[in-house]
Amino acid sequence: MPISKPVFSAFFSALLLSACARPQQPPLLFGPPLRPADVVAQNIPSVAPLPDFSEIPAPPDNPVTQGKVELGFRLWFEPRLSANNRMTCATCHHHMRGFSNAEPNAAGVSGQRGRRNVPTIYGALFQKESFWDGRAKNLEAQALGPVTDPVEMNESLPNVLRQLSEVPYYQHKFQEVFGTPPTADGMAKALASFERALLMAPTPFERYQQGEPQALSPEQVRGMNLFFSPRARCSECHQGPAFSDQLFHNLGVGLDQPNPDLGRFEVTRMPWDRGAFKTPTLLNIAKTAPYMHDGSLASLQEVIAFYNRGGEPNPQQDPRLRPLNLTAQEQTDLLAFLQSLSAPDNLRAMGRLPGIRLPQAELEQLLAGR
Ligand code: HEC
Ligand code: HEC
Repeated sequence: MPISKPVFSAFFSALLLSACARPQQPPLLFGPPLRPADVVAQNIPSVAPLPDFSEIPAPPDNPVTQGKVELGFRLWFEPRLSANNRMTCATCHHHMRGFSNAEPNAAGVSGQRGRRNVPTIYGALFQKESFWDGRAKNLEAQALGPVTDPVEMNESLPNVLRQLSEVPYYQHKFQEVFGTPPTADGMAKALASFERALLMAPTPFERYQQGEPQALSPEQVRGMNLFFSPRARCSECHQGPAFSDQLFHNLGVGLDQPNPDLGRFEVTRMPWDRGAFKTPTLLNIAKTAPYMHDGSLASLQEVIAFYNRGGEPNPQQDPRLRPLNLTAQEQTDLLAFLQSLSAPDNLRAMGRLPGIRLPQAELEQLLAGR
Protein backbone atom coordinates (compact mmCIF):
# COMPACT_ATOMS: atom_id res chain seq x y z
CA MET A 1 0.00 0.00 0.00
CA PRO A 2 1.68 3.24 -1.01
CA ILE A 3 1.84 5.46 2.09
CA SER A 4 1.88 8.68 0.10
CA LYS A 5 -1.88 8.68 -0.39
CA PRO A 6 -3.59 9.43 2.92
CA VAL A 7 -7.11 9.53 1.53
CA PHE A 8 -6.88 6.21 -0.20
CA SER A 9 -5.05 4.76 2.82
CA ALA A 10 -7.91 5.73 5.11
CA PHE A 11 -10.38 4.16 2.70
CA PHE A 12 -8.21 1.08 2.49
CA SER A 13 -7.80 0.79 6.27
CA ALA A 14 -11.55 0.93 6.70
CA LEU A 15 -11.89 -1.74 4.09
CA LEU A 16 -9.17 -3.82 5.68
CA LEU A 17 -10.82 -3.56 9.11
CA SER A 18 -14.14 -4.64 7.72
CA ALA A 19 -12.46 -7.41 5.77
CA CYS A 20 -10.66 -8.62 8.91
CA ALA A 21 -13.96 -8.92 10.72
CA ARG A 22 -15.06 -11.48 8.15
CA PRO A 23 -13.86 -15.03 8.45
CA GLN A 24 -13.43 -15.60 4.70
CA GLN A 25 -10.40 -13.46 3.97
CA PRO A 26 -9.25 -14.51 0.50
CA PRO A 27 -5.80 -16.06 0.47
CA LEU A 28 -2.80 -13.94 -0.39
CA LEU A 29 -1.58 -15.90 -3.37
CA PHE A 30 1.36 -14.05 -4.79
CA GLY A 31 2.85 -12.09 -1.93
CA PRO A 32 2.26 -8.41 -1.21
CA PRO A 33 1.98 -5.97 -4.12
CA LEU A 34 5.29 -4.90 -5.58
CA ARG A 35 6.59 -1.60 -4.30
CA PRO A 36 7.96 0.64 -7.05
CA ALA A 37 11.51 0.06 -5.78
CA ASP A 38 11.12 -3.71 -6.31
CA VAL A 39 10.32 -3.30 -9.94
CA VAL A 40 13.77 -3.47 -11.31
CA ALA A 41 13.97 -3.59 -15.06
CA GLN A 42 15.00 -7.18 -15.41
CA ASN A 43 14.84 -9.12 -18.61
CA ILE A 44 14.12 -12.79 -18.18
CA PRO A 45 16.05 -14.76 -20.80
CA SER A 46 13.85 -16.52 -23.29
CA VAL A 47 14.35 -20.27 -23.63
CA ALA A 48 11.52 -21.08 -26.01
CA PRO A 49 11.31 -19.58 -29.47
CA LEU A 50 8.94 -16.62 -29.40
CA PRO A 51 5.47 -17.38 -30.76
CA ASP A 52 4.25 -15.43 -33.73
CA PHE A 53 1.59 -13.36 -32.03
CA SER A 54 0.59 -11.62 -35.25
CA GLU A 55 -1.07 -14.85 -36.42
CA ILE A 56 -3.53 -14.90 -33.52
CA PRO A 57 -6.97 -13.69 -34.63
CA ALA A 58 -8.02 -10.50 -32.82
CA PRO A 59 -10.27 -7.46 -33.35
CA PRO A 60 -8.78 -5.01 -35.90
CA ASP A 61 -8.19 -2.33 -33.25
CA ASN A 62 -6.33 -4.70 -30.95
CA PRO A 63 -3.90 -6.96 -32.79
CA VAL A 64 -1.92 -9.23 -30.46
CA THR A 65 1.64 -7.99 -30.02
CA GLN A 66 4.40 -9.19 -27.76
CA GLY A 67 4.33 -5.93 -25.80
CA LYS A 68 0.62 -6.27 -25.05
CA VAL A 69 1.01 -9.90 -24.05
CA GLU A 70 3.83 -8.97 -21.66
CA LEU A 71 1.78 -6.15 -20.14
CA GLY A 72 -1.33 -8.36 -19.92
CA PHE A 73 0.70 -11.11 -18.27
CA ARG A 74 1.89 -8.65 -15.66
CA LEU A 75 -1.59 -7.16 -15.10
CA TRP A 76 -3.06 -10.66 -14.77
CA PHE A 77 -0.99 -11.07 -11.59
CA GLU A 78 -1.34 -7.48 -10.35
CA PRO A 79 -2.95 -7.16 -6.89
CA ARG A 80 -3.31 -3.39 -7.35
CA LEU A 81 -6.35 -4.24 -9.47
CA SER A 82 -8.30 -5.17 -6.32
CA ALA A 83 -9.70 -3.07 -3.47
CA ASN A 84 -7.69 -4.87 -0.77
CA ASN A 85 -4.57 -5.20 -2.93
CA ARG A 86 -4.63 -8.94 -2.28
CA MET A 87 -6.59 -10.34 -5.20
CA THR A 88 -5.48 -10.83 -8.80
CA CYS A 89 -7.16 -12.32 -11.87
CA ALA A 90 -5.18 -15.47 -11.04
CA THR A 91 -6.75 -15.75 -7.59
CA CYS A 92 -9.87 -17.08 -9.31
CA HIS A 93 -8.50 -18.10 -12.73
CA HIS A 94 -5.57 -20.06 -11.37
CA HIS A 95 -3.17 -21.62 -13.84
CA MET A 96 -2.51 -24.62 -11.59
CA ARG A 97 -6.27 -25.34 -11.59
CA GLY A 98 -6.94 -25.13 -15.33
CA PHE A 99 -7.44 -21.35 -14.98
CA SER A 100 -10.38 -21.92 -12.66
CA ASN A 101 -10.46 -22.23 -8.86
CA ALA A 102 -11.65 -25.78 -8.02
CA GLU A 103 -14.73 -24.37 -6.27
CA PRO A 104 -18.42 -24.17 -7.28
CA ASN A 105 -18.16 -20.35 -7.31
CA ALA A 106 -15.74 -17.70 -6.08
CA ALA A 107 -15.35 -15.35 -3.12
CA GLY A 108 -14.51 -11.73 -3.94
CA VAL A 109 -12.42 -9.31 -1.85
CA SER A 110 -15.19 -8.97 0.72
CA GLY A 111 -15.61 -12.72 1.08
CA GLN A 112 -19.04 -12.51 -0.54
CA ARG A 113 -19.61 -15.36 -3.00
CA GLY A 114 -20.65 -14.81 -6.60
CA ARG A 115 -23.32 -17.16 -7.96
CA ARG A 116 -21.38 -18.58 -10.89
CA ASN A 117 -18.58 -21.06 -11.52
CA VAL A 118 -15.24 -19.61 -12.66
CA PRO A 119 -14.75 -20.44 -16.36
CA THR A 120 -11.34 -21.37 -17.70
CA ILE A 121 -9.56 -18.81 -19.90
CA TYR A 122 -8.39 -21.48 -22.36
CA GLY A 123 -10.16 -21.12 -25.66
CA ALA A 124 -10.92 -17.45 -24.89
CA LEU A 125 -9.40 -16.77 -28.29
CA PHE A 126 -12.37 -18.48 -29.94
CA GLN A 127 -14.99 -16.75 -27.83
CA LYS A 128 -17.60 -14.53 -29.39
CA GLU A 129 -19.36 -13.14 -26.33
CA SER A 130 -17.89 -13.47 -22.86
CA PHE A 131 -19.39 -14.72 -19.57
CA TRP A 132 -21.82 -17.60 -19.04
CA ASP A 133 -24.65 -15.35 -20.26
CA GLY A 134 -22.67 -13.60 -23.01
CA ARG A 135 -23.22 -10.14 -21.52
CA ALA A 136 -19.79 -8.83 -22.62
CA LYS A 137 -19.38 -8.46 -26.37
CA ASN A 138 -15.70 -9.48 -26.41
CA LEU A 139 -12.68 -10.02 -24.19
CA GLU A 140 -11.83 -6.31 -24.17
CA ALA A 141 -15.32 -5.47 -22.89
CA GLN A 142 -15.03 -8.24 -20.30
CA ALA A 143 -11.58 -7.49 -18.92
CA LEU A 144 -12.40 -4.62 -16.57
CA GLY A 145 -15.68 -6.11 -15.32
CA PRO A 146 -14.05 -8.12 -12.52
CA VAL A 147 -12.03 -5.10 -11.33
CA THR A 148 -15.11 -3.04 -10.50
CA ASP A 149 -17.53 -5.90 -9.69
CA PRO A 150 -18.41 -5.52 -5.97
CA VAL A 151 -18.38 -9.31 -5.44
CA GLU A 152 -15.05 -9.68 -7.23
CA MET A 153 -12.18 -7.16 -6.96
CA ASN A 154 -14.42 -4.22 -5.98
CA GLU A 155 -11.90 -1.55 -7.00
CA SER A 156 -12.46 1.74 -8.84
CA LEU A 157 -10.69 2.28 -12.16
CA PRO A 158 -9.33 5.74 -11.20
CA ASN A 159 -7.72 4.14 -8.12
CA VAL A 160 -6.17 1.37 -10.19
CA LEU A 161 -4.84 3.78 -12.80
CA ARG A 162 -3.41 6.09 -10.16
CA GLN A 163 -1.59 3.20 -8.49
CA LEU A 164 -0.31 1.79 -11.77
CA SER A 165 1.02 5.16 -12.88
CA GLU A 166 3.24 5.28 -9.79
CA VAL A 167 5.05 2.11 -10.83
CA PRO A 168 7.96 2.72 -13.22
CA TYR A 169 7.33 -0.59 -15.01
CA TYR A 170 3.77 0.42 -15.92
CA GLN A 171 4.76 4.00 -16.81
CA HIS A 172 7.31 2.68 -19.27
CA LYS A 173 5.36 -0.27 -20.58
CA PHE A 174 2.12 1.61 -21.32
CA GLN A 175 4.19 4.32 -23.02
CA GLU A 176 6.05 1.74 -25.10
CA VAL A 177 2.95 -0.25 -26.07
CA PHE A 178 0.22 2.41 -26.35
CA GLY A 179 2.15 5.69 -26.28
CA THR A 180 0.15 6.84 -23.24
CA PRO A 181 0.27 6.66 -19.44
CA PRO A 182 -1.78 3.77 -17.98
CA THR A 183 -5.39 3.89 -19.26
CA ALA A 184 -8.42 1.64 -18.77
CA ASP A 185 -8.57 1.02 -22.50
CA GLY A 186 -4.93 -0.09 -22.55
CA MET A 187 -5.47 -2.37 -19.55
CA ALA A 188 -8.43 -4.04 -21.28
CA LYS A 189 -6.50 -4.47 -24.54
CA ALA A 190 -3.44 -5.90 -22.79
CA LEU A 191 -5.45 -8.35 -20.65
CA ALA A 192 -7.42 -9.50 -23.71
CA SER A 193 -4.15 -10.00 -25.65
CA PHE A 194 -2.68 -12.11 -22.84
CA GLU A 195 -5.82 -14.26 -22.85
CA ARG A 196 -5.76 -14.72 -26.63
CA ALA A 197 -2.07 -15.67 -26.54
CA LEU A 198 -2.71 -18.37 -23.97
CA LEU A 199 -2.65 -21.33 -26.32
CA MET A 200 -2.35 -24.77 -24.86
CA ALA A 201 0.19 -27.29 -26.05
CA PRO A 202 -1.54 -29.77 -28.42
CA THR A 203 -3.91 -32.10 -26.55
CA PRO A 204 -3.74 -35.89 -27.12
CA PHE A 205 -6.94 -35.48 -29.20
CA GLU A 206 -5.29 -32.85 -31.42
CA ARG A 207 -2.18 -35.00 -31.80
CA TYR A 208 -4.42 -37.92 -32.83
CA GLN A 209 -6.12 -35.71 -35.41
CA GLN A 210 -2.74 -34.62 -36.72
CA GLY A 211 -1.86 -38.22 -37.54
CA GLU A 212 -0.44 -39.66 -34.31
CA PRO A 213 -2.77 -42.67 -33.78
CA GLN A 214 -1.12 -43.76 -30.54
CA ALA A 215 -1.94 -40.41 -28.88
CA LEU A 216 -5.35 -41.83 -27.89
CA SER A 217 -6.04 -45.15 -26.13
CA PRO A 218 -8.60 -47.54 -27.72
CA GLU A 219 -11.04 -46.49 -25.00
CA GLN A 220 -10.54 -42.82 -25.88
CA VAL A 221 -11.06 -43.53 -29.59
CA ARG A 222 -14.39 -45.25 -28.76
CA GLY A 223 -15.32 -42.28 -26.57
CA MET A 224 -14.38 -39.87 -29.36
CA ASN A 225 -16.59 -41.70 -31.86
CA LEU A 226 -19.45 -41.62 -29.39
CA PHE A 227 -18.92 -37.90 -28.67
CA PHE A 228 -19.25 -37.06 -32.37
CA SER A 229 -22.07 -39.56 -33.03
CA PRO A 230 -25.79 -38.77 -33.47
CA ARG A 231 -26.31 -41.14 -30.54
CA ALA A 232 -24.63 -38.94 -27.90
CA ARG A 233 -24.94 -35.64 -29.81
CA CYS A 234 -22.26 -33.89 -27.75
CA SER A 235 -20.67 -32.30 -30.81
CA GLU A 236 -23.94 -30.66 -31.86
CA CYS A 237 -23.06 -28.00 -29.28
CA HIS A 238 -19.44 -28.75 -28.28
CA GLN A 239 -17.82 -28.18 -31.68
CA GLY A 240 -14.92 -26.26 -33.23
CA PRO A 241 -11.41 -25.78 -31.87
CA ALA A 242 -12.60 -24.93 -28.35
CA PHE A 243 -15.49 -27.43 -28.38
CA SER A 244 -18.10 -24.69 -28.16
CA ASP A 245 -20.65 -23.46 -30.71
CA GLN A 246 -20.58 -20.13 -28.80
CA LEU A 247 -24.37 -20.32 -28.51
CA PHE A 248 -26.66 -20.47 -25.48
CA HIS A 249 -28.65 -23.56 -24.51
CA ASN A 250 -30.95 -24.55 -21.71
CA LEU A 251 -29.99 -27.94 -20.25
CA GLY A 252 -32.04 -27.30 -17.12
CA VAL A 253 -29.04 -26.98 -14.78
CA GLY A 254 -30.12 -25.35 -11.50
CA LEU A 255 -33.63 -24.54 -12.69
CA ASP A 256 -35.09 -26.76 -9.97
CA GLN A 257 -33.59 -24.43 -7.32
CA PRO A 258 -35.49 -21.57 -5.66
CA ASN A 259 -34.80 -18.24 -7.47
CA PRO A 260 -32.81 -19.89 -10.27
CA ASP A 261 -30.16 -18.06 -12.28
CA LEU A 262 -31.93 -17.37 -15.60
CA GLY A 263 -28.68 -16.90 -17.53
CA ARG A 264 -29.02 -15.53 -21.06
CA PHE A 265 -32.60 -14.39 -20.32
CA GLU A 266 -31.19 -11.72 -17.98
CA VAL A 267 -29.37 -10.21 -20.98
CA THR A 268 -31.94 -10.55 -23.77
CA ARG A 269 -35.26 -10.83 -21.84
CA MET A 270 -36.37 -13.26 -24.54
CA PRO A 271 -38.57 -16.03 -23.10
CA TRP A 272 -36.73 -18.76 -25.02
CA ASP A 273 -33.45 -17.72 -23.36
CA ARG A 274 -34.72 -18.59 -19.89
CA GLY A 275 -32.13 -20.82 -18.18
CA ALA A 276 -29.83 -20.83 -21.23
CA PHE A 277 -26.05 -20.58 -20.76
CA LYS A 278 -23.13 -20.39 -23.14
CA THR A 279 -21.75 -23.75 -24.27
CA PRO A 280 -18.48 -23.83 -22.31
CA THR A 281 -15.19 -24.89 -23.87
CA LEU A 282 -14.07 -28.44 -23.07
CA LEU A 283 -10.36 -27.59 -23.29
CA ASN A 284 -8.63 -28.73 -20.11
CA ILE A 285 -12.01 -29.94 -18.86
CA ALA A 286 -10.49 -32.64 -16.66
CA LYS A 287 -8.78 -29.90 -14.62
CA THR A 288 -11.71 -27.56 -13.94
CA ALA A 289 -14.13 -29.45 -11.67
CA PRO A 290 -16.74 -28.71 -10.41
CA TYR A 291 -18.85 -28.20 -13.52
CA MET A 292 -21.74 -26.18 -14.99
CA HIS A 293 -22.52 -22.48 -14.52
CA ASP A 294 -23.35 -23.08 -10.87
CA GLY A 295 -20.64 -25.64 -10.15
CA SER A 296 -23.37 -28.09 -9.14
CA LEU A 297 -21.83 -31.20 -10.71
CA ALA A 298 -18.75 -32.37 -8.85
CA SER A 299 -17.12 -34.60 -11.46
CA LEU A 300 -17.11 -35.52 -15.14
CA GLN A 301 -18.83 -38.78 -14.17
CA GLU A 302 -21.69 -36.69 -12.76
CA VAL A 303 -21.81 -34.59 -15.96
CA ILE A 304 -22.06 -37.74 -18.09
CA ALA A 305 -24.77 -39.17 -15.81
CA PHE A 306 -26.63 -35.84 -16.14
CA TYR A 307 -26.63 -36.05 -19.97
CA ASN A 308 -27.45 -39.74 -19.84
CA ARG A 309 -30.69 -39.06 -17.99
CA GLY A 310 -31.58 -36.25 -20.43
CA GLY A 311 -30.61 -33.26 -18.30
CA GLU A 312 -33.19 -31.51 -16.14
CA PRO A 313 -36.42 -31.35 -18.19
CA ASN A 314 -38.19 -27.96 -18.24
CA PRO A 315 -40.32 -26.09 -20.80
CA GLN A 316 -37.37 -24.29 -22.44
CA GLN A 317 -35.00 -27.25 -22.49
CA ASP A 318 -32.93 -27.65 -25.65
CA PRO A 319 -34.60 -30.37 -27.79
CA ARG A 320 -31.21 -32.03 -28.35
CA LEU A 321 -31.27 -33.27 -24.77
CA ARG A 322 -33.03 -36.57 -24.14
CA PRO A 323 -32.18 -39.75 -22.24
CA LEU A 324 -29.22 -41.40 -24.00
CA ASN A 325 -29.30 -44.89 -22.45
CA LEU A 326 -25.51 -45.19 -22.60
CA THR A 327 -24.05 -48.43 -21.27
CA ALA A 328 -21.58 -48.34 -18.39
CA GLN A 329 -18.79 -49.05 -20.89
CA GLU A 330 -19.89 -46.18 -23.14
CA GLN A 331 -19.90 -43.80 -20.18
CA THR A 332 -16.38 -44.87 -19.26
CA ASP A 333 -15.26 -44.38 -22.87
CA LEU A 334 -16.77 -40.90 -23.01
CA LEU A 335 -15.01 -39.98 -19.78
CA ALA A 336 -11.70 -41.24 -21.17
CA PHE A 337 -12.20 -39.09 -24.28
CA LEU A 338 -12.97 -35.96 -22.24
CA GLN A 339 -9.70 -36.57 -20.40
CA SER A 340 -7.84 -36.43 -23.71
CA LEU A 341 -8.74 -32.75 -24.14
CA SER A 342 -6.19 -31.52 -21.60
CA ALA A 343 -2.56 -30.54 -22.05
CA PRO A 344 0.08 -28.70 -20.07
CA ASP A 345 -0.27 -24.94 -20.49
CA ASN A 346 2.35 -22.63 -21.90
CA LEU A 347 2.39 -20.12 -19.07
CA ARG A 348 5.95 -21.00 -18.16
CA ALA A 349 7.09 -20.30 -21.72
CA MET A 350 5.17 -17.03 -21.72
CA GLY A 351 6.71 -16.12 -18.36
CA ARG A 352 10.11 -16.29 -20.00
CA LEU A 353 9.28 -13.71 -22.65
CA PRO A 354 11.90 -11.02 -22.54
CA GLY A 355 10.36 -7.85 -21.19
CA ILE A 356 8.13 -9.41 -18.55
CA ARG A 357 10.38 -7.62 -16.04
CA LEU A 358 9.32 -9.30 -12.86
CA PRO A 359 11.99 -10.01 -10.28
CA GLN A 360 13.13 -13.58 -11.03
CA ALA A 361 12.19 -14.89 -7.58
CA GLU A 362 8.69 -13.52 -7.89
CA LEU A 363 8.26 -14.87 -11.40
CA GLU A 364 9.33 -18.32 -10.24
CA GLN A 365 6.95 -18.14 -7.29
CA LEU A 366 4.17 -17.11 -9.58
CA LEU A 367 4.76 -19.80 -12.19
CA ALA A 368 4.95 -22.43 -9.47
CA GLY A 369 1.45 -21.32 -8.47
CA ARG A 370 2.30 -20.09 -5.02
C1 HEC B 1 -13.44 -13.27 -7.58
C2 HEC B 1 -13.11 -14.20 -8.64
C3 HEC B 1 -12.69 -13.64 -9.99
C4 HEC B 1 -11.69 -12.74 -10.26
C5 HEC B 1 -10.78 -12.03 -9.27
C6 HEC B 1 -11.64 -12.61 -11.70
N1 HEC B 1 -12.59 -13.41 -12.29
FE1 HEC B 1 -12.90 -13.64 -14.28
N2 HEC B 1 -14.57 -14.68 -13.88
C7 HEC B 1 -15.02 -15.06 -12.62
C8 HEC B 1 -16.35 -15.64 -12.73
C9 HEC B 1 -17.18 -16.20 -11.57
C10 HEC B 1 -16.70 -15.58 -14.10
C11 HEC B 1 -18.03 -16.01 -14.72
C12 HEC B 1 -19.01 -14.89 -14.43
C13 HEC B 1 -20.25 -14.93 -15.29
O1 HEC B 1 -20.25 -15.61 -16.31
O2 HEC B 1 -21.22 -14.25 -14.94
C14 HEC B 1 -15.54 -14.99 -14.79
C15 HEC B 1 -15.46 -14.82 -16.18
C16 HEC B 1 -14.34 -14.36 -16.83
C17 HEC B 1 -14.16 -14.38 -18.28
C18 HEC B 1 -15.16 -14.92 -19.30
C19 HEC B 1 -14.85 -16.34 -19.64
C20 HEC B 1 -15.93 -16.98 -20.47
O3 HEC B 1 -15.81 -18.17 -20.77
O4 HEC B 1 -16.92 -16.32 -20.84
C21 HEC B 1 -12.93 -13.82 -18.54
C22 HEC B 1 -12.28 -13.64 -19.89
C23 HEC B 1 -12.38 -13.40 -17.26
N3 HEC B 1 -13.25 -13.78 -16.25
C24 HEC B 1 -11.20 -12.71 -17.11
C25 HEC B 1 -10.81 -12.14 -15.89
C26 HEC B 1 -9.79 -11.11 -15.76
C27 HEC B 1 -9.03 -10.45 -16.89
C28 HEC B 1 -9.66 -10.87 -14.42
C29 HEC B 1 -8.76 -9.85 -13.73
C30 HEC B 1 -8.89 -8.48 -14.16
C31 HEC B 1 -10.62 -11.72 -13.73
N4 HEC B 1 -11.30 -12.47 -14.65
C32 HEC B 1 -10.77 -11.77 -12.36
C33 HEC B 1 -14.32 -14.91 -11.44
C34 HEC B 1 -13.26 -14.05 -11.27
C1 HEC C 1 -27.71 -28.63 -26.51
C2 HEC C 1 -26.28 -28.32 -26.48
C3 HEC C 1 -25.39 -29.29 -25.75
C4 HEC C 1 -25.23 -30.65 -25.94
C5 HEC C 1 -25.97 -31.55 -26.90
C6 HEC C 1 -24.21 -31.07 -24.99
N1 HEC C 1 -23.76 -30.00 -24.27
FE1 HEC C 1 -22.40 -30.06 -22.79
N2 HEC C 1 -22.87 -28.16 -22.27
C7 HEC C 1 -23.73 -27.34 -22.96
C8 HEC C 1 -24.02 -26.16 -22.16
C9 HEC C 1 -24.92 -25.00 -22.57
C10 HEC C 1 -23.34 -26.32 -20.94
C11 HEC C 1 -23.39 -25.38 -19.72
C12 HEC C 1 -24.76 -25.54 -19.08
C13 HEC C 1 -24.99 -24.82 -17.78
O1 HEC C 1 -24.04 -24.59 -17.03
O2 HEC C 1 -26.16 -24.50 -17.49
C14 HEC C 1 -22.59 -27.58 -21.05
C15 HEC C 1 -21.71 -28.08 -20.11
C16 HEC C 1 -20.92 -29.21 -20.28
C17 HEC C 1 -19.83 -29.61 -19.44
C18 HEC C 1 -19.33 -28.83 -18.23
C19 HEC C 1 -18.36 -27.74 -18.68
C20 HEC C 1 -17.91 -26.81 -17.58
O3 HEC C 1 -16.88 -26.15 -17.78
O4 HEC C 1 -18.56 -26.72 -16.54
C21 HEC C 1 -19.31 -30.76 -19.95
C22 HEC C 1 -18.14 -31.57 -19.42
C23 HEC C 1 -20.12 -31.11 -21.10
N3 HEC C 1 -21.07 -30.14 -21.28
C24 HEC C 1 -19.92 -32.25 -21.87
C25 HEC C 1 -20.89 -32.69 -22.79
C26 HEC C 1 -20.97 -34.04 -23.30
C27 HEC C 1 -20.01 -35.15 -22.95
C28 HEC C 1 -22.06 -34.08 -24.11
C29 HEC C 1 -22.64 -35.28 -24.85
C30 HEC C 1 -23.09 -36.35 -23.99
C31 HEC C 1 -22.64 -32.75 -24.13
N4 HEC C 1 -21.91 -31.95 -23.31
C32 HEC C 1 -23.75 -32.38 -24.88
C33 HEC C 1 -24.30 -27.61 -24.19
C34 HEC C 1 -24.46 -28.90 -24.69
